[in-house]
Amino acid sequence: MTAAPERVLVAYFSQTAGNTERVAEQLADGLGADVARIETVEPYPDDYDEVVEQGRREVDEGYEPEIVGLEVDPGEYDAICVGTPTWWYTMAPAVRTFMGQVGWAGRTLVPFMTNGGWPGTVIEDMEALARGAHVVEPMEVRFDSTGGSRIVTPRSDVEAWVDRVARELGR
Ligand SMILES: Cc1cc2nc3c(=O)[nH]c(=O)nc-3n(C[C@H](O)[C@H](O)[C@H](O)COP(=O)(O)O)c2cc1C
Repeated sequence: MTAAPERVLVAYFSQTAGNTERVAEQLADGLGADVARIETVEPYPDDYDEVVEQGRREVDEGYEPEIVGLEVDPGEYDAICVGTPTWWYTMAPAVRTFMGQVGWAGRTLVPFMTNGGWPGTVIEDMEALARGAHVVEPMEVRFDSTGGSRIVTPRSDVEAWVDRVARELGR
């Protein structure tokens, strides 16, 4: 008898270049998983420099912005892959909010992030907010250092990671 397939969700926040969104979509495709976008109730400005400044203030204060309710209930999933851009060496504030809303005990977390070359402590910070979770296959994907969408991490590394996550989650 084979075990029931794990229910897998890919939840991500992506703001300035769509980088985290593209990685999230690639992962969700590879896993055949549901995908949900994390969004703040109060939208960020369109101007990049304004987002950088607002993000710095929010990270400094440990601010957790209100997020829009997801279309799915994370509590119904055995494994949740959570993706975030790096904002001032940690996860984006909206992802901090999301991490605090999930009951992690007994669930699997696959943390992944995008960055421009200064990855900071994103993965460790996410793991610290997922108390009781089984953490597998964390991934850092590097893009260019100017906030653009040019990927620096070899695409084959991202593909290999998706394959490893799929195997790990029995997909
Ligand atoms: C507010 C803010 C802070 C950032 N801080 C960092 C940082 O500390 N380290 C880094 O490597 N990149 C930093 N970046 C760059 C983003 O992490 C990178 O461009 C990311 O891939 C953007 O993802 P997105 O297109 O999904 O929003 C920052 C970008 C913003 C907007």
